[in-house]
Amino acid sequence: MGWESAAAWLVCPHCGPDSAPAGLFTAGATLRCADGHTFDVAADGHVNLLPARRRLPDMVGDSKAMLLARRRFLDGGHYAPLSEALNQLAGRHLANAAPASGLLPGAPAQGRPGGGMPPPGRAILDVGCGEGYYLGRLQHHLARWPIYPFGVDVSKAGVSLAARRHRGAHFVVADGSARLPFATGSVQVLLSVFAPRHPAEFGRVLASTGLLLVVIPTPDHLREVRAAQPMLEIEADKERRIVERLAPGFHLTGTTTLEYELSLNPTAVANLVGMTPGARRGRQVAPGAGDVRTPVGFTLLAFGPRG
Ligand SMILES: C[S@@+](CC[C@H](N)C(=O)[O-])C[C@H]1O[C@@H](n2cnc3c(N)ncnc32)[C@H](O)[C@@H]1O
Ligand SMILES: [Zn+2]
Repeated sequence: MGWESAAAWLVCPHCGPDSAPAGLFTAGATLRCADGHTFDVAADGHVNLLPARRRLPDMVGDSKAMLLARRRFLDGGHYAPLSEALNQLAGRHLANAAPASGLLPGAPAQGRPGGGMPPPGRAILDVGCGEGYYLGRLQHHLARWPIYPFGVDVSKAGVSLAARRHRGAHFVVADGSARLPFATGSVQVLLSVFAPRHPAEFGRVLASTGLLLVVIPTPDHLREVRAAQPMLEIEADKERRIVERLAPGFHLTGTTTLEYELSLNPTAVANLVGMTPGARRGRQVAPGAGDVRTPVGFTLLAFGPRG
């Protein structure tokens, strides 16, 4: 999918969402704002909207090796039930919200070269999308809807992998802990799957009829793998803390818990451990020779914006 109409859903990271017109537009192989800032479209189709002057600590964002391990693991289908559950929740939400939601983001000026009003539709945004697994599948599931799927990650390696595989979606390098480069109120479904959350920005970009879906692990998630491998601890009381942090802008509208057992062979265990931050610090220990049977569990928290 080209950027011609999709660019208008994005806002310039330098000028911000309050500039008028805020939306970007295409000019050759670049995206431009009305003030003349330009952003190259990479050969794989992604756009980097991280301001060059903004230096991030080295440990922000997953490395290419972690994202490749994540892709190999997810391609094994182990988390397909989670993807399916997200698809169902998002699809149901779109059907319910359809009468109230014909959204248009901040529109660029008429008649600007390569610019124009985006067609009616809705943006769907996955913040911390990694290599694009959940957004790619969601985009297929929602194929009959006039939606513009966007994935954002601070890791260029992730965005690049995602863009190469999921040609029907748009991927952007941006820092999800700063201002998101999306128009205010432009997003109908916002996904946050095991990724950092920015409540104020989530609240700004989400439409008043929108849905925020946050996925966190249950306390038992990967229990048997964790027992043998140095992986990140699951915070006690994570769900309550997230609901509290989001409370100023969001109310919880539903909770879905998904639990099942997986039997993971040593390659799958190695990929699983390789995709976690511990792997980057070289803390991985060799997986055992046999399969590991472990519970996995996800809590899907659905939020609506406070009116
Ligand atoms: C645990 S991974 C989850 C990736 C993906 N949602 C999945 O479940 O396959 C967390 C992701 O958040 C990204 N991330 C970390 N800090 C970020 C930030 N400040 N802004 C955007 N993405 C960030 C990482 O690069 C990584 O891809
Ligand atoms: Zn600008």
